[in-house]
Amino acid sequence: MKILVATDKPFAAIAVEGIKKELDKAGIEMILLEKYGEKSKLIEAIADVDGVIVRSDILDAEVLNAAKKLKIAVRAGAGYDNIDLATATANGVCVMNTPGQNSNAVAELVFGMAVMLVRNFYNGTSGTELKGKKLGIHAFGQVGRNVARIAKGFGMEIYAFDPYCPAEAIEAEGVKPITDINEMYSTCQYISLHIPATPETKKSINYNLLKQMPKGAVLINTARKEVIDEEELVKLMEDRADFKYISDIKPDNASVFAEKFEGRYFFTPKKMGAQTAEANINAGIAAAKQSVGFLKEGIDKFKVNK
Ligand code: 3PG
Repeated sequence: MKILVATDKPFAAIAVEGIKKELDKAGIEMILLEKYGEKSKLIEAIADVDGVIVRSDILDAEVLNAAKKLKIAVRAGAGYDNIDLATATANGVCVMNTPGQNSNAVAELVFGMAVMLVRNFYNGTSGTELKGKKLGIHAFGQVGRNVARIAKGFGMEIYAFDPYCPAEAIEAEGVKPITDINEMYSTCQYISLHIPATPETKKSINYNLLKQMPKGAVLINTARKEVIDEEELVKLMEDRADFKYISDIKPDNASVFAEKFEGRYFFTPKKMGAQTAEANINAGIAAAKQSVGFLKEGIDKFKVNK
């Protein structure tokens, strides 16, 4: 049996070693394809493997249809919007993610970017502090919970909106649940996004929602760029000189931000929320174990295309 590890953005070497060890133990051969750049190389490599482990790599219909022997595709990470679930399901491929394995890394980046912003990119001028400020966590999943844990250390006042998470579960983490999204946006100066990109959430972070944020608003996006209505965000930042946007995902219209909003935005050069050795080890090895468990024993605990 063969499992392809296809990561255009490679895992840390130590994580790759860990994956290989897991697969070796199970007598499965690891094929490694890193920084492949072109889709054709992925199509070629996936053709005769039983399983594939990916990060944000795109497994669309063309790629999945080329994978004639594929039984399992594991997204080493949380968001699986990069995998065409309908085609995978039609082809009998089990798709899984590895929830929670890289969430602390993403949560730490939220604060890494926030502190840099409020300290004016360390340019020597007087900044502000996070302590005592109101933080709204939009979606209280694994990353949202880690954000709450860290925000407590900063002494922030923490709120969360998540229609899929019971209020008691939010309260149990010492966070104030808010059931009305507009109330959260109008209450919190800081909003951190942790919603997945789905038909329901795409472009849902729009002008009307964001305009309600209090003075000195900071929107932090370590989720997906698709959830933002980028044109409306630009319009809002034109209308409100106090509004700032920091993101782990460069928007499609990044050049507009450079032209118009100097000092009010930050984008990582490449999505790097989960780019830590720890997150790579956790997510990579979990993906390897899940792949082996499925191929050898049919365990499908983290299957997302049920
Ligand atoms: C995720 O969904 O797990 C994160 O966005 C990390 O994605 P990455 O593995 O492509 O860095």
